[in-house]
Amino acid sequence: MTTGVGDIRRDPWLKASIDAFADTVRGLGPVLDVGCGPGTVTAYLAERGLDVSGVDLSPRMIENARRLHPECRFAVASATELDLGEASLGGVLGWWSLFNLPRDVLPQVLALFARALKPGGHFITGTHVGDEDAVRTEAYGDVPVRWTTHKWRPEQLVNLIEQAGLNPVAELRLPPTEYSGPGLVVMAKRPG
Ligand SMILES: C[S@@+](CC[C@H](N)C(=O)[O-])C[C@H]1O[C@@H](n2cnc3c(N)ncnc32)[C@H](O)[C@@H]1O
Repeated sequence: MTTGVGDIRRDPWLKASIDAFADTVRGLGPVLDVGCGPGTVTAYLAERGLDVSGVDLSPRMIENARRLHPECRFAVASATELDLGEASLGGVLGWWSLFNLPRDVLPQVLALFARALKPGGHFITGTHVGDEDAVRTEAYGDVPVRWTTHKWRPEQLVNLIEQAGLNPVAELRLPPTEYSGPGLVVMAKRPG
């Protein structure tokens, strides 16, 4: 059972990206899904035999993730405060979860991820494409929220990933749909 959030099975290109990531990092070491939300992708990767765990800033998300996927490990943590050992991970995901980070904070988080990857380990991210900072004040119908989505131009985000010390290996541009604006998936590798 899933909440429908993050259900990559509904989108062949997102599914293909995550499958490629899974095939690439299999056997390289633990995988961390940062900003895992309700754990849909975490559980998908676990089903594919990866040693994966998820973290999310939101205790409610983690509560849901644990309820929906009791077989997986989840913890409440912010991407900005993760205590990750150097070269301890085979893979790290920032799957549609890094666009809320302030623009000047994202480079530090990418550097943290790069350091935590083993040489040959991979990072994958998906994000919204654009120039603007979109402020949202309601979600899920009429629940009041306050969050900002920092959209990125593909070349800007790829530059940041390179500056963090990772080598991009694939970029997938997703055109706007009826439901969302344009998107971008980038996979990158720690050299070595
Ligand atoms: C759009 S959801 C995506 C969830 C999941 N990755 C997926 O694709 O189904 C974004 C998630 O990022 C989390 N998030 C936002 N900022 C975060 C941060 N600084 N650290 C960890 N998680 C964060 C939110 O709580 C939310 O669950």
